[in-house]
Amino acid sequence: MKTTAAWQALTEYRLSFGDTRMCELFATEPDRFERLSLRAAGLFLDYSKNRIDDRGLGLLGNLARERGVEQARAAMFGGQRINTTENRAVLHVALRNRGEQAMEVDGQDVMPAVREVLARMGSFVEAVREGAWRGYAGETITDVVNIGIGGSDLGPAMVCQALQGCAHPRLTMHFVSNIDGDHLAGVLGRVDPARTLFVIASKTFTTIETMTNAASARSWFLANGGSEAAIARHFVAVSTNAERVADFGIDLANMFGFWDWVGGRYSLWSAVGLPIALQVGFAGFEALLQGAHDMDRHFVDAPLEANMPVILAMLGVWYRGFCGAGSLSVAPYAQALARLPAYLQQLEMESNGKSVTCSGAPVTTPTCPVIWGEPGTNGQHAFFQLLHQGTDLIPVDFIVPLRAGHGLPGHHRLLLANCIAQSKALMVGKCADEVRAELGASGLSGEALEALVPHRVFPGNRPSNTLLLPDLSPRSIGALIALYEHKVFVQSVIWDINAFDQWGVELGKQIASRIGAELAGEAEGQHDASSQGLIALARQALNG
Ligand code: F6P
Repeated sequence: MKTTAAWQALTEYRLSFGDTRMCELFATEPDRFERLSLRAAGLFLDYSKNRIDDRGLGLLGNLARERGVEQARAAMFGGQRINTTENRAVLHVALRNRGEQAMEVDGQDVMPAVREVLARMGSFVEAVREGAWRGYAGETITDVVNIGIGGSDLGPAMVCQALQGCAHPRLTMHFVSNIDGDHLAGVLGRVDPARTLFVIASKTFTTIETMTNAASARSWFLANGGSEAAIARHFVAVSTNAERVADFGIDLANMFGFWDWVGGRYSLWSAVGLPIALQVGFAGFEALLQGAHDMDRHFVDAPLEANMPVILAMLGVWYRGFCGAGSLSVAPYAQALARLPAYLQQLEMESNGKSVTCSGAPVTTPTCPVIWGEPGTNGQHAFFQLLHQGTDLIPVDFIVPLRAGHGLPGHHRLLLANCIAQSKALMVGKCADEVRAELGASGLSGEALEALVPHRVFPGNRPSNTLLLPDLSPRSIGALIALYEHKVFVQSVIWDINAFDQWGVELGKQIASRIGAELAGEAEGQHDASSQGLIALARQALNG
């Protein structure tokens, strides 16, 4: 990679760009904001507060072209088996294809099957929301408990929270993912079995956390008034694995399917989005799909230099590969987007947390940064200290809706002000002379003043993107998620890694299964001294 012409040109550019400050760039480029901002699918991206100029952006465009981003994009949308280690196509974009065109895998149009599941979801969702779907005691459903983990949890949980403003007044959504029984027990303690619908969501229907929670939910239901005959009114499954669903005891008429060409972390557009549709209604779910489709069209049609996902991706490559940034902070200025950082952690880090290329050779450049964050303004009173004055360069993505869903006066103005202020403060910083003047004006002087100066200096020149959403509507949220999905894909192409497998999660699962048997006394194992000691203590606790 490092030897390619575009990478070398960027390495040289990095040296010549040196410590050029963003403020200098704004001073010499009066139209920088107009040029380095764009609209797509209803979103507005300001990427002018980045440590780069036109030449650098041009070189990043060259790198994207040289790495074959356009061809890779065509391969993905064309249904090619680009997930080579699992020999699968990657066609989540078909799930939100709102047009008439066919989308094919192995010459087979997948759209009829996609539309068929959507139609079944639509009927089911409306029956539950309108009250036609009744529990075993003849009552309407009031609580939906989604049991799933990873991609079968994070997407729907994040979106349901984001769209809390359009929730059905009778329905409360709960999400149980952790195998820690406190999670399920906490939810079961709050719901009425006669009025609860369980959605068991698992692509494979083998995931230990989900299967354990589903079995416990089923036992709780049977022990609290439910019956085998009533399971069909209270348990539905979302999966690709009909055999396992049937083995679990869920009627296949209550199963909503999807396909192996939908990766878990890209699955919220499939039946995995059932809780979203139950919460916002089927028309709302379709609006979410439409927002994502709008972003898909933009990603496919826009030239690389004016392509929002490509721009976000290439700026990420720039900071990671050329500026030494090891992490990216995501700061949604919206309490409703509180789970967005967690969702993006799976999307970005499970996709691109790899260190071998598609052909299995070690990568020669850094890949995915650590993704982390919390909603603003809370983060400002916690870790923003480090963003402003810490030793690491940490780019930030600020994300804020322009319109609020609540009617509380004054709040949204302050939220927007804080969001804009933070990106500005990170960029402009505060120099020693400004600090001196400020402290002098407050009455300090001499040694006391000088002792404080270094502590109150802000180095500035810390980059960020600001993404404005028109609102927190399904359509805006759909566009936002699709934007990050495509960003992740483009970065994987640049880094020559497979974004669609996740072998890195397997080893821990295998070892946990063996240790689980040892803790149950069903097996004996040989371990390193540390693990052996911990197993002994855990056994004592379990048996004591
Ligand atoms: O953690 C690994 C993983 O396979 C994720 O990729 C996936 O989203 C999650 O487990 C859940 O998998 P499933 O939907 O098959 O239960």
